[in-house]
Amino acid sequence: MKDEELMQQAVEARQLSYSPYSNFKVGAALLCKDGKVFLGANVENSAYPLCMCAERNALYNAMMNGYKRADFVALAIAADTDAPCSPCGACRQVISELFPRDGEILLTNLKGDSYKTNIDELLPLAFSGDDLK
Ligand code: THU
Repeated sequence: MKDEELMQQAVEARQLSYSPYSNFKVGAALLCKDGKVFLGANVENSAYPLCMCAERNALYNAMMNGYKRADFVALAIAADTDAPCSPCGACRQVISELFPRDGEILLTNLKGDSYKTNIDELLPLAFSGDDLK
């Protein structure tokens, strides 16, 4: 699948957003090796700390369908931002745990700007399970 198609799916996943508090819709689309795409959108709560981000929902959606890190190829994230939408710190930590180091992370916005990156660039010197040994 082309990067542009995956980013378009992330844009469309924004329609699934439940964001009555921020009115900020974020969408994510996670591509697997077999071509399957799992979507995620942000889901908010009146108790604000319980809000869940789009990227994490996409990863958890895939995992609840039996997919895991080795199956993931690319993750696209989209929101109505000036620059391509970049994941929050919590999502970077979760991506670092569940998404492969060589996986492509595609950031975009509604204007079609995009930036291709990876978790090592987004979260250098990450804390990981290795540190617990
Ligand atoms: N949000 C995401 O879904 N992903 C991010 O990486 C940044 C923030 C959501 C959380 C909340 O619902 C809204 O955007 C405003 O922070």
